[in-house]
Parts: sequence; C-alpha cells; structure tokens
Amino acid sequence: MAFTRPRGTRDLFDNEARRLRWVERRIRETFESFGYSEIITPTLEKLELITAKSGEEIVEHLYDFKDKAGRKYALRPELTAPVMRAYVNSLQKAPKPVKLYYISNCFRYERPQSGRYREFWQAGVELIGSPTPEGEAEILAISNALLDNLGLKDFAIYIGHIGVLRKLLTKMGITEQSSMLGMIDREEYEELDERLIACEVDRKSRELLFKIMGLSGGRDVLERVGELLEDEEIEGEMERFEETLDFAEELGVGYSVDMGIARGLDYYTGMVFEIYAKKLGAENQICGGGSYRLAEIFSGSPISTCGFAYGLDRLILALEKEGVALGEEEGSKVYIVPVSRDYLSEALKIASKLRAQAPCEVELNRRKLGKALSYASKKGFEFAVIVGEEVKENKLVVKNLKSREQRVVEMGRVKEAVHRNGGG
Ligand code: HAM
Repeated sequence: MAFTRPRGTRDLFDNEARRLRWVERRIRETFESFGYSEIITPTLEKLELITAKSGEEIVEHLYDFKDKAGRKYALRPELTAPVMRAYVNSLQKAPKPVKLYYISNCFRYERPQSGRYREFWQAGVELIGSPTPEGEAEILAISNALLDNLGLKDFAIYIGHIGVLRKLLTKMGITEQSSMLGMIDREEYEELDERLIACEVDRKSRELLFKIMGLSGGRDVLERVGELLEDEEIEGEMERFEETLDFAEELGVGYSVDMGIARGLDYYTGMVFEIYAKKLGAENQICGGGSYRLAEIFSGSPISTCGFAYGLDRLILALEKEGVALGEEEGSKVYIVPVSRDYLSEALKIASKLRAQAPCEVELNRRKLGKALSYASKKGFEFAVIVGEEVKENKLVVKNLKSREQRVVEMGRVKEAVHRNGGG
C-alpha cells in the first residue's frame, strides 16, 4: 500500500530543512539577545485550554480528538495559551518580568494553500509581568530586530488598539464580542453591520465604530480617535498607547497606525500589531501579536502580558522572494574516495581526522573512482580527496571538482588545500 503525507503537511528535504534550521538559529540569537529564555511545551493540550479564550477563528480550525481514556485534547494551534498555562502552573512566583520564547510546530485544520498549512512553525515571545509602555515597545522592537537580523527589507508593521474597539462594542451593549471582532479581522464589514443591526445598535454608534475602524496612517490618527470618542477612559488608553509608540520609535521601529486591527484570537485587550511581507501573495501576514489577558482565565493572578509570533514558513517564503541567502554552505564539503579496496581502511581513517576540520563523507558503495567522483559532483561537493599509493609517502590527491584541477598534497595540509580559496 502506498502512503502519502497528511494533507497540508510537508516533508522538508535537505535545503528546505537547512533553511528552516538556519532561520531558527538567527531567531534564537535575536530572542536571547533581549534576555528571553526558551520554553518547550507539549504538542497537545487539553481541549478546554484552547477553546477557553482563543476565539472562534481558531477553535473552528482545531485538530481535536479523544484519547483512549476519553479525555479531550487538541494539537496546539498556537503557543500563547500553552505558555500561559505553563506560567500559571509553574512560574507565578518567579521574579518579573518573565521573558519566554518558543520555536515550535503548530497545527490548524485550514484549507491548505501557498503559505497556509495544517502543520506550520511559529517563533514567538511572551513578556509576562511588565505593565509598562516600554515593555510593549520592547515587544515591537524584538519583532523588528528579528527582520533586520534575517535581512528582510520589504515589510510593513501596522499597530492598532483592540481596547478601543472592545470599549465601543461594550458601549453598544455587546458583551459577546468574539464573533464580531472575528468579522472585523476578516474584513467582513457588511455581515458585521447586519449583526449590529440585529442587536438593535443605533445608526450613530454603528457609524462611529466604522469610522474608528477606518482610521489609519501616522500618529495623528490617535488624535482623531480622541476627538471622535471624547471618553476619559479611552483618553487614558490613548495616552499610554502614544507612549508605547514613542518608545517604539526611539527603538527604531517604523510603523503605521491602523485602528481596524482586530486579530483572529480572542484574548487581546490593548495594543495589537501585524507585520506583512509585501512580496508575498494572499497569505502575507508573517507576524501577529499584542497585549492580552489569559492568566486569570487559567485561574492565575491577573498579570500584564504582551507577545507576538512569527509564522516561519511564510517568513522563509518572504526571505526567498527577496533573494536572501538562507544558510548556504559556509565551509567546503569533502568527498573521500579510495582508489581501490586496498586503500579503504586508510580512507576511513583519513575521513575521521579530516572531519574535525571540514564536513567529510567517504565513498560507501565501492564505486570505481570515476563514478564516485561524478556522484560527488552531482551532490555538490567542492573537493574530493583521493586516497591512493601516495599515502605511503604521507600524501593525498586533492581534486577541485569544479575546476577539475588536482594536486598532490601533504597529509597535514589537506585542510588548507580544501579551504574555499585554497584548492586551486
Ligand atoms: P496568529 O496571527 O494566529 O497569532 O499567528 C501568528 C503567525 O503564524 C501568523 O502571522 C502567520 O504568519 C502564522 N500562521 C498562522 N496560521 C498559519 C498557517 N495555517 N500556515 C502557516 N502559517 C500560519 C498567534 O498565533 C498568537 N499566538 C501570537 C501572539 C503571541 N500573540 C501574543 N503572543
């Protein structure tokens, strides 16, 4: 019987796997440079953890199942809820702020297309217990630094404030806000208006909501929000928002304000942001995040939390579109071929020594020299080390597989000879 991969999943071969790991390494460096430490959580979580406050959007797309004892589980669709569960379980007493990062696979039962998969990778951070605007600004700065470190150029950061949208909905008497925020997130504005009418929201309030959602541009947007709402509480929120943006600017973050950002997840409460890669097609949102409340939903003490997650698959697609070299070979690879069975043991020993200096492989299929060399060329090796009778004089033949030049080299000088520019 022939088997295929589960729909929406991928096998990552050679270069694809290398690119993912390279990007992961760069991301790790960035997160750790800001003092975040890694957290690894289980691939599955109790279903209720995910359904508690993640919003319709995600719950609809869960991989959920019952185990043999009848317990309900879900494969994690994201990491924020699992990380906050782990924080409430084990880290509430730790000194604040707690700074955590993750690079893990996630699962969502979505319709697969380019940049949208059922298994994908996320890299994100959660800043727990820093209630200040500079804390939020740091989150924005990390997301920006990560793109600088990876070399992505053509992207845009949009920052909004879901607290304002929530406040407006609350004023309209709408307490069950998840589905309406979902509609804003999916830009289903007609459906939203119909729903508001069905909830008997008057025309003036509806128009005000749409006006606020439509505000986008520079810092002046915040003033417009203040003028339109004339609400003391919102004024306070806007002042804080302004401070976050001030610090973000000081940290070198370039952004636009977009008051229509609602995010697809239900736990956000304040500043929210999304990053788009301009060179990607339909699925061009590479990052999303913001300030949220989850600890108290999981029976912990209330605490300020802010974070983001990048989708690595989309990030890699965006980097490739911009022609960024993702972890291309840094050293030369060496293929070691004995000229005959008599020199096989010697070849194996030489490989063991050389491996400390350059990645090495030995011919394992006892092919004749010509065939072995053509295999090495096809596999992209830059150099072959041919082990033959010269070994008796402590020498080897080093062949540059690109230029076809070869020369006899002292055993101790092979490293120099296979150095990228030293092979002749
Ligand atoms: P999210 O916007 O649902 O936020 O996902 C973050 C990123 O994951 C998206 O911007 C996208 O790049 C990527 N992504 C999502 N679904 C898929 C998919 N099916 N295939 C490929 N990539 C995908 C969160 O998950 C929040 N937990 C972010 C966060 C952290 N907020 C606060 N802290």
